[in-house]
Amino acid sequence: NSPQWLEGQKVVVTAGGTVERIDPVRYISNDSSGQMGYAMARAASFYGADVTLISTKRDLKVPHNITAVYVDSAVEMQQKLNKYFSDTNYVVMAAAVSDYRVLNRSDQKIKKEAGSDNSLQLDLAVNPDILATLGKEKKNQVLIGFAAETENLSEYASGKLRKKNANWIIANDVSNKGIGFNSTHNEVLVIGADGTYEEISMRSKLNVSLKIWRIILDPNHTTN
Ligand code: C5P
Repeated sequence: NSPQWLEGQKVVVTAGGTVERIDPVRYISNDSSGQMGYAMARAASFYGADVTLISTKRDLKVPHNITAVYVDSAVEMQQKLNKYFSDTNYVVMAAAVSDYRVLNRSDQKIKKEAGSDNSLQLDLAVNPDILATLGKEKKNQVLIGFAAETENLSEYASGKLRKKNANWIIANDVSNKGIGFNSTHNEVLVIGADGTYEEISMRSKLNVSLKIWRIILDPNHTTN
């Protein structure tokens, strides 16, 4: 029997890379597989939470008793989060949100100019930082962000914790092949606004997620 630490608690988890349309058949996105978000959702449900997934990945299996809502772009993801935020206890921003979106998205497929070797310019607008915005608006909600870095992991992650006013940042080194983006396993650093600083060594994303929740929820947890 799992400890029901999250019983009666509402948890919203975002997952996957956002999709920023260029035209009806093309888009800008990233390598996020959505697996870490789904694992965080599954683990929250295991500890008794009422979980909603806001996901860009329509082909991943959604565990029963978890509600999935699908979105594509960062702006859509933010709109959905705003709908749930006031009535939510925990937000897990595991999604890889595109920093930019295409400014003048075309309703028709963009054609290559006949006979032209000219380059094509795409103008990009800055997307809202969803986590930072929630960090400004939060009342009692606990905000859990992720940081994928290729260097200075703990320094950049603690910077994000402060800048976005999050309660927790889960950081992983994406330059390390075999963990992080598109991998089944992960190895993370958990940094809390309360001063918590803990490493979780390599294991499946579900087991990493169970440990993350344990650190967040149980002040007397023991490592490993
Ligand atoms: O700044 P960076 O993208 O590294 O921050 C990562 C964290 O911030 C993740 O939790 C991600 O979901 C969130 N984020 C966001 N909106 C953005 C960019 C990142 O919520 N536009």
